[in-house]
Amino acid sequence: MPKPKIVVLTGAGMSAESGLKTFRDADGLWEGHDVMEVASPQGFARNPELVLEFYNQRRRQLLGVRPNQGHLALAQLENRFDVSIVTQNVDNLHEQAGSSHVVHLHGELFKVRSTKNENHVIEWKKDLVLGDLDPDGHQLRPHIVWFGEMVPLLETAAQITQQADILIIIGTSMQVYPAASLVHYVAPSIPIYFVDPRPNIRESDFGNLNIIPKTAVEGVPSLVDDLLSTFS
Ligand code: APR
Repeated sequence: MPKPKIVVLTGAGMSAESGLKTFRDADGLWEGHDVMEVASPQGFARNPELVLEFYNQRRRQLLGVRPNQGHLALAQLENRFDVSIVTQNVDNLHEQAGSSHVVHLHGELFKVRSTKNENHVIEWKKDLVLGDLDPDGHQLRPHIVWFGEMVPLLETAAQITQQADILIIIGTSMQVYPAASLVHYVAPSIPIYFVDPRPNIRESDFGNLNIIPKTAVEGVPSLVDDLLSTFS
């Protein structure tokens, strides 16, 4: 008997209680920066040092934080479910917590890639500066999907989401596409759990939507306990 499939779509709110800022809350990450300056190909072309330093600061911060109880609870789901995490987050906190199938729609902070050959991707946990080159001598860049760039894993994520028996959405404002469109790929009848202290969705938007107006740490562990006991 195959395990029921749970797909979890997570955004910056998932990592907020680990100490990583979200983007659009008050004092959010974008508040201090012009997005196009630090998270677009044009910004990188115009001022590569500024962009590289922006991601160096975030990489250094990620080295100092840990998964929260929400991340750890999601990893526990794998005891009884076939779980896929589709995250907009570039941190590796789901992996640190033990989740074994994580798809990063917007890239990964602990990876860099060649500016010439986008398939040349390497693990990278230290600062990245001008002059850090790939083996062919091309500048390396953060392995992040910047605004205006394609989302290479979108089709993979859509195929995963279509197979969900249960969908959980945690900590995303649902404002950035195409990631936000994934919720429309699920079968109409399946249960959707939406965990967010300030939910940006209406019950009427979907057939079987359960809004949990709590933070990830307040809401995810108890949701996981309910799912594990229901499907035991
Ligand atoms: N627990 C759960 N949710 C939270 C918490 C928390 N502790 N704190 C805030 N939130 C919610 C907010 O209410 C909001 O709905 O998390 C959401 C964060 O939304 P955004 O800051 O817009 O983050 P996200 O949706 O992940 O942004 C998507 O935008 O800038 C791009 O590439 C970037 O991946 C990012 C994408």
